[in-house]
Parts: sequence; C-alpha cells; structure tokens
Amino acid sequence: MRLTKRLMTIAKFISTGSVVADIGTDHAMLPVYLIKNGISEKVIAGDLNKGPLEMAKKNVIEAGFLDRIFLRQGNGLEIISSGEVDTAVISGMGGSTIREIIQNAGSAANSLKKMVLQPMNDSRRLRKWLVENGWAIDDEEIVEEDSRLYEIVCVVRGVEKTMDIDIVSVGPRLFEKKHPLLLKLIRNELENFNRIVSDMEKSALSKTILKRSEVQREIDVLERIEKCLLLNARQ
Ligand SMILES: C[S@@+](CC[C@H](N)C(=O)[O-])C[C@H]1O[C@@H](n2cnc3c(N)ncnc32)[C@H](O)[C@@H]1O
Repeated sequence: MRLTKRLMTIAKFISTGSVVADIGTDHAMLPVYLIKNGISEKVIAGDLNKGPLEMAKKNVIEAGFLDRIFLRQGNGLEIISSGEVDTAVISGMGGSTIREIIQNAGSAANSLKKMVLQPMNDSRRLRKWLVENGWAIDDEEIVEEDSRLYEIVCVVRGVEKTMDIDIVSVGPRLFEKKHPLLLKLIRNELENFNRIVSDMEKSALSKTILKRSEVQREIDVLERIEKCLLLNARQ
C-alpha cells in the first residue's frame, strides 16, 4: 500500500515517537504507514462513518496492526480522551469542518501538542482562526497532485510570530520559505474570486452588494501578497 504524495507529506510532519489520532481516517492508509515505518507506536484512527471505518479495519487487519491501530467511530476528536494522544491529523476535509472539529474537541484538545491539518478549502480563514486560538504555525507545505494543489499546515501550541494577518492567512511559513507553489496557489484563488465577481456583476440583486465587497477584500489581500511575492523573488 503506497501513500500518495499528499499523505506522504503529512506523514513527514509527524515526529517519531508520537501518539497520533488520525481523524477522518477513511482507509487508514496513514496510520498503517506510521506504524509500518516505526514513526508511531500507537495510532487512534477515527471516522464519523461506518463504511470508511470498515475499509480501515480491513486494511489494518491485512497489515497485522490491530494491536497498535485502534479504530473508533465518532465525530472528530470526541473519540479521544484527555492525555491519550499528543498529535492529531485532520486531513481531506473542508476548512470549516476542521475548525469545528478542533472547537468541539473538549478535554482531548488539552493534551494535543501538535496538529497536522490539510484543508480542502477555506485554508486562509482556518489559519486566522488557529492563530487567534492559541496555535502557532510551525511549518507548512504545498503539494501538487493530479493537477491540484493541497496545503498542509502543521501547528503547535504557542503564539504566532508573524503580525501581518494577511501573510498569516496565506501561510507565514510558506511565505518565508518562498515556496515555489505559493504564487500558483494565490493566482488560482484570485482566478476563483474574479470569476465570483464576474458572476455577481451579472446578477442585479442588491443582496450581492455586501458579499461583493467581501470578495473584493479577498482579492485585494491576494493581490497584495502576489505583489510581495514577485518583489521577494527579485531580491
Ligand atoms: C476525503 S476523506 C479523507 C481521508 C484521509 N484523511 C485523507 O486525507 O486522505 C474524509 C473522511 O473524513 C470523514 N469525516 C468527515 N467528517 C468527519 C468528522 N466530523 N469526524 C470524523 N470523520 C469525519 C469521512 O467519513 C471520510 O472518511
């Protein structure tokens, strides 16, 4: 069972010796990899739905790791008790779902030292929320797979050192390391927002006016970061 480039990059963010909760594990590909490669001794693999968890169980049995990968059905981090894990992986879900899972984590959140997050969308809002809620961005990556860009954000407890909230939103560690795919990611987002504006212009409804200004604000932020990146690239 080979991991995709995206899951492999997520695995690289897990420190050796960590006790991990993989939330929304689906086929339990990541837990099996972490155990097989000696990165973790114990992984709790959770999923909201029965179907994915059955597939996960099949793969865990096949790999012979039923004594080290513990399968649990339930919502987000609610399946974890306090002190049980130090690292959580929440990947392949929307940014707002990831935020809700962390918000509703209850006492399980207290023992978490690190989270590796891979939002499928809304990553900028998620980063802002994380830094406003006691998490600092430790490292980040962008992975290109099947013509799609995936952001992976690794956060630890602490205070984010970057003060510029726009840079925080696009990824402060991506910005610092002049990540080669950041400009492409920003231009993709700009394209989406410009498409939304053009659709809104076709609609004469007054209720779109407020939303239009919100979208325009997003475009302004992204254009500002785009300019900074182009300037940085020349230096
Ligand atoms: C697209 S899959 C991602 C699988 C894997 N994490 C990955 O990154 O490849 C999303 C999985 O999350 C599960 N899921 C969605 N919402 C969830 C929640 N609130 N708590 C736990 N699992 C959830 C779904 O059932 C599904 O199996």
